[in-house]
Amino acid sequence: RGGKEDSRGALVVLEGLDRCGKTTQSARLVTNLERLGYSAELWRFPDRTTSVGKMISSYLSNESQLDDHTIHLLFSANRWEKRSLMESKLKSGTTLVVDRYSYSGVAFSSAKGLDIEWCKAPEIGLLAPDLVVYLDIPPEKAAERGGYGGERYEQLEFQKKVGHNYQVLCSPTWKIIDACSSMEDVEEQLQEMFFVGLIRNIYFNDSTTIV
Ligand code: TMP
Repeated sequence: RGGKEDSRGALVVLEGLDRCGKTTQSARLVTNLERLGYSAELWRFPDRTTSVGKMISSYLSNESQLDDHTIHLLFSANRWEKRSLMESKLKSGTTLVVDRYSYSGVAFSSAKGLDIEWCKAPEIGLLAPDLVVYLDIPPEKAAERGGYGGERYEQLEFQKKVGHNYQVLCSPTWKIIDACSSMEDVEEQLQEMFFVGLIRNIYFNDSTTIV
């Protein structure tokens, strides 16, 4: 199921500050879609399982130091190494719900002061999402949720800059959900957004569009 026999899956991206609830909500959306008979997978970036991903993970946990440009390119490389698998999954009809994507790459690196256009450049040519959902939470509220795990970027002042950059990146096509609502409300809105896209048939065209 999921549209026409030969139709492709949707590329759905969730973005937001650390502790906005993305990970929980991505997982819930996948469970809900599967329950309804769709083929869906949960993906996340960084994908820490690859060798590039392990370098990123070690950087994030402060076990290694890297120049800001270098780590930016590693995050991007981590998406590039998954691009062909992503494309074949989509073409075979599987919907991918992705916890963070290129927008995290740009929002976080430019919060360090890197030029935003430079940050966008290595993302050109990656697959463009059909739907970007931004889980909107004030940085102070996210910090109150606790659970900042001590990773490199989990600091209030830095997250404020990231939040500002997301606003700069936000295009009119992004869907925004108030991440301070209850988990159930967010879950319901997210699912509804997915199905509105289905009704409009925006996910199942013949080609995968490109960033
Ligand atoms: P995670 O907590 O979702 O695993 O993400 C790890 C951190 O990496 C998070 O603080 C956001 C940051 N990040 C980037 O700086 N650039 C990127 O391209 C991605 C995907 C994440």
